[in-house]
Amino acid sequence: MWKHHTKLERNSLPLVIAILIVVSIGGMVEIAPLFYLESTIEKVEGVRPYTPLELEGRDIYVREGCYLCHSQMIRPLRDEVERYGHYSLAAESMYDHPFQWGSKRTGPDLARVGGKYSDAWHRDHLIDPRSVVPESVMPPYAFLADKPLDYRDIQAKIRAMNKVGVPYTQEMIDSAKEDLETQADPFAGSAKFLARYGAKAQQRDFDGNPDQVSEMDALVAYLQMLGALVDFKTYQAEAPENRR
Ligand code: HEC
Repeated sequence: MWKHHTKLERNSLPLVIAILIVVSIGGMVEIAPLFYLESTIEKVEGVRPYTPLELEGRDIYVREGCYLCHSQMIRPLRDEVERYGHYSLAAESMYDHPFQWGSKRTGPDLARVGGKYSDAWHRDHLIDPRSVVPESVMPPYAFLADKPLDYRDIQAKIRAMNKVGVPYTQEMIDSAKEDLETQADPFAGSAKFLARYGAKAQQRDFDGNPDQVSEMDALVAYLQMLGALVDFKTYQAEAPENRR
């Protein structure tokens, strides 16, 4: 066997062919099953697609480059879990296209910032970070409060998300504009909106200005739901060794 191997090693062409054969067997064993698996992500109760307003907020988050200073990925290490809460689950970012895990933390991780502060705190913080955190180096985003949200293409955005695998129904696509306006208006009839996105979906005037749906509305709606979908009081990881 080793004698033959010496021959192979001295002849580059047969060696290349032999390498290709071995590598393609390895590739088939490792890669082929991935095409047949339904999903490698554990299903978790509570995870749902973004509402249209949250999706617009996510787009503003991306547009403003918040991900350059903030990660959205709590690693399963004690210091992270003690600071930020339960480590991130794959299911929590399964509807993110593109995902917002980030790779830099100039500011803190935001994966569980939802519900940590009031809407008013977020507003003040985004308008002037140093008004609430004096030592902050975060830039101000005051213009978001004045800028009306341009959501003319929200239906197309939801349809695009649907195309890449987010389970929006036809009904959700059709009522995207209506749902967006409903979520930002505390006095709008909410029954249909809540039926589509779940009773825990938050509906209120996020920017505190009832005269318009602003970019601030969308961004705060997004921040307030980050990491708040899964109820960790009842969550049980699927792997048996993690069960108590
Ligand atoms: C230049 C880096 C930088 C950028 C860009 C940036 N931030 Fe921050 N952010 C920080 C720092 C530093 C802190 C911590 C100090 C503070 O709370 O202001 C912070 C804090 C925060 C907090 C409070 C987190 C907590 O748990 O206390 C939120 C929410 C937040 N940022 C949202 C955003 C959003 C939304 C954007 C984009 C519109 C953004 N940040 C852009 C640096 C940045």
